[in-house]
Amino acid sequence: MKKKIAVLFGTRPEAIKMAPVVSAIQRSSHLEPLVIATAQHREMLDQVLRVFDVKPDFDLDLMRPNQTLAGLTSRLIATIDDVVRETAPAAILVQGDTTSVLAGTLVAFYNNIPVGHVEAGLRTHDIRNPFPEEMNRVLTGRLTRWHFAPTQSSAENLIREGYSPEKVYLTGNTVIDALLEGRRHPSKQVRSVAEGRRMILVTTHRRENFGKPLQRICDAVLQLLERNPALEFLFPVHPNPNVSSVVRELLSKHARVTLCEPLDYLSFIAAMEASYIILSDSGGVQEEAPALGKPVLVLRNETERPEAVAAGVAQLVGTDTSVIVNAVQQLLDDPVAYTKMALGASPYGDGQSARRITDILEAELGSGFLPCNR
Ligand code: UD1
Ligand code: UDP
Repeated sequence: MKKKIAVLFGTRPEAIKMAPVVSAIQRSSHLEPLVIATAQHREMLDQVLRVFDVKPDFDLDLMRPNQTLAGLTSRLIATIDDVVRETAPAAILVQGDTTSVLAGTLVAFYNNIPVGHVEAGLRTHDIRNPFPEEMNRVLTGRLTRWHFAPTQSSAENLIREGYSPEKVYLTGNTVIDALLEGRRHPSKQVRSVAEGRRMILVTTHRRENFGKPLQRICDAVLQLLERNPALEFLFPVHPNPNVSSVVRELLSKHARVTLCEPLDYLSFIAAMEASYIILSDSGGVQEEAPALGKPVLVLRNETERPEAVAAGVAQLVGTDTSVIVNAVQQLLDDPVAYTKMALGASPYGDGQSARRITDILEAELGSGFLPCNR
């Protein structure tokens, strides 16, 4: 009989990065996936499920408008626990650093089920930044049996924290598996930009950027439009009311800014491919842009993804209006600087991460019961 591996996710990025893991486990002769969607996100999760044709075994439908961290956490724990008790999986996989991840890990611990953490070991070493994600991933690490680290430096973070090297596996990031699959998808989209124009793609959603920082980002967009008559912006707006209210108020009237609902993953890949530069505070976009050869300016003061910055294909610009404007303007004006950032090299993976994770689980779960932790 195949062993049941619970694959738990709730938000858009988790679903994108877990879709390849679900497919790889489906192909296994020894394991089968049990997909638990918390639906911490609703519409954005559904977009991903449609693109990758993932059908959850359980859809907990937990999102509430403008949900609080504590309210969401308590709903997640109680509801995931019911499913886990009913289904008794051999292991639970979580991905990243969201509230769904921490809640799923805690429930696994209470039920003595080992946890595999996909995208383990990312750190800023500042517990409040990003908030609450750094705390989520640090606590999740403490309760994890298999740490699937995407890069050498994330693996090293874990070893430095005292985790046994035998439990830290360098797998690459499954985002590259998803990106490559998205690019091969039969209904792959193409997006064009008018002759003589350049398009900048913007996304933002981090809690640290709510309020003033987001206003400064929007001001930078307006100043860049003013200076560059052949520039246009595409801004798929995150549905969090703290984001959408500000962005729509400040940018909706400009003719060369297209504000839209979140794009489905295939359309978003097409938008990244059509863009000249990407401005984003997103984790996933920082990983995808380098793989597509697109310079990404990161709208944050620090990042847990230092590899792309070190490789010179991403730049931390924070949220100061003039810093953003100057960094973009330099890339627009200086083809040498642009070319250096548009190398098309990804430090994050080779598209085989989900298969590696599945191979490790197959090998490990052959040996019977495994306690969680170090
Ligand atoms: C969450 C994660 C963050 C991740 C981000 C990806 C936490 C604490 N935060 O942030 O780590 O980077 O997802 O996007 O886990 N909403 C909708 N429809 C949707 C999704 C969200 O309306 O499909 C609105 C709802 O009002 C919801 C709010 O956005 O209450 C916030 O969602 P939430 O998941 O709590 O936080 P995010 O800011 O999306
Ligand atoms: N994405 C998408 N549609 C959009 C914007 C982003 O499909 O309109 C994808 C993007 O390609 C990446 C993921 O969503 O894979 C990133 O999600 P998000 O920025 O919400 O979260 P983070 O990665 O910061 O946790």
